[in-house]
Amino acid sequence: MPLPDTFLWGGGIAASQAEGAWREGGRGPAVSDISKYRPNADPKDYAAQHHVSLASIEEAMSDPDPTFYGKRRGIDFYHRYPEDLALFAEMGFTVLRVSIAWSRLYPTGEETEPNEEGVAFYLALFENMRVHGIQPLVTLAHYDAPLHLATTYNGWTDRRLIALFERFARTCFERFGHLVKLWLSFNEIDSVLRHPFTSGAIIEELVEGSLEQACYTALHHQLVASARITAMLRELHPDAKLGCMLTMLTTYPLTCHPDDVAATQAKDRLMYHSSDVQAGGEYSPLALRTLAQRGVTIPIEPGDLDILRENTVDFVSFSYYMSMTESVDPTVERTPGNTVFGVKNPYLPSTDWGWQIDPVGLRISLIALYDRYRKPLFIVENGVGMRDVLTDDRKVHDDYRIDYLRSHLAEMIVAVDEGVEMLGYACWSPIDTVSLSTSQMSKRYGFIYVDQDDEGRGSGERIRKDSFDWYRKVIASGGTDL
Ligand code: BG6
Repeated sequence: MPLPDTFLWGGGIAASQAEGAWREGGRGPAVSDISKYRPNADPKDYAAQHHVSLASIEEAMSDPDPTFYGKRRGIDFYHRYPEDLALFAEMGFTVLRVSIAWSRLYPTGEETEPNEEGVAFYLALFENMRVHGIQPLVTLAHYDAPLHLATTYNGWTDRRLIALFERFARTCFERFGHLVKLWLSFNEIDSVLRHPFTSGAIIEELVEGSLEQACYTALHHQLVASARITAMLRELHPDAKLGCMLTMLTTYPLTCHPDDVAATQAKDRLMYHSSDVQAGGEYSPLALRTLAQRGVTIPIEPGDLDILRENTVDFVSFSYYMSMTESVDPTVERTPGNTVFGVKNPYLPSTDWGWQIDPVGLRISLIALYDRYRKPLFIVENGVGMRDVLTDDRKVHDDYRIDYLRSHLAEMIVAVDEGVEMLGYACWSPIDTVSLSTSQMSKRYGFIYVDQDDEGRGSGERIRKDSFDWYRKVIASGGTDL
């Protein structure tokens, strides 16, 4: 059996999709609070769903009807986490990925002292995890920057956010560092290039010049911030580890026509743009040249390159849901994926949301990443969003979820057998939460069903799906019994 004894098994959630309690415990408004479920929106139009303006922010914040703002209520993890952790423990989890809401500790992002109620909440959460023998893997930024930083600074386009984020990270390391040994800085750091507001707190109408330039500027600031807090963590807790987190969007050429292959190669270079910095310590000269040709410059200040080079990550983590295909032919059929819209692969089935199911793509991703960086890998998101049916006898027969996860885990094991070094596997998400892209509750990923609909109706009761027992068995067997 190739998986090491130290291999961590579990799942991951994010504060803005699970906690709820958006106005409790001193939490300030976050960019995720604006996110609205639009029953008639085209789920393929990711950019439109995540585009906001000053007017839409104002409208959302003064909207008296909370029905469509699912991320504000999440699944009430804020109050129900003891019950949820007990269920995760029942499945045998040894790791749970959670994120810390920046605006719970620093409501506007600008305070000089943290909100102690927020600190107390996370301390209780991590203590409770320890009681269950579940190790926390904590993301500091998972799509929920304080809203104030968007409206006042235009988010990460402003270099001053680095210092504000460092203050937040220092509080997390100082107050939780005795309980948390595994950290991630930015969830899917590359995603600021695809959804500037959600990931970078950037409001397009406040951008002077091109949006593309603003996004690369923001990304550079996030990369520097990530490197700086890596140095900080090493000083405060030398026994802890920090990883980067990228959206693994493995892409195949649609045909073997050299133009399709070249287009795919260009896509890949873009995909690795940030992990090359975080894991490799420097920007790829080819990527910089491509950007320069497009008129984009990275605002590198004296000292930045040293900081990036000296503070590479301990491990590389990533999300993997689907793969994409690339073609230079503009007439080919296209389909959505995780925060992207690309070319459809004729060999792969898709979910109702158009995401293409490709287990072999996970093996390809693992091998590509390990070959490139030679650092331990951690799958911190993998799963399938589906509409589940709760039967009259309160069961969910989710064989499709078991099939998806089983086939992906089998490919992961092949990759490990081939020599890829891995720290663990945390599926997305072990309990149903609110969808990032559509704010739907009905796009479900969990082993645990949450009785709640898109408009917040339901008891919130937690119900074990068929996949719950299956995952427990997988973990108990160390991955041998899939
Ligand atoms: C990842 C995000 O991109 O995809 C998660 O990090 C998100 O926050 C996950 O939930 C699945 O996407 P969605 O839109 O189906 O929730």
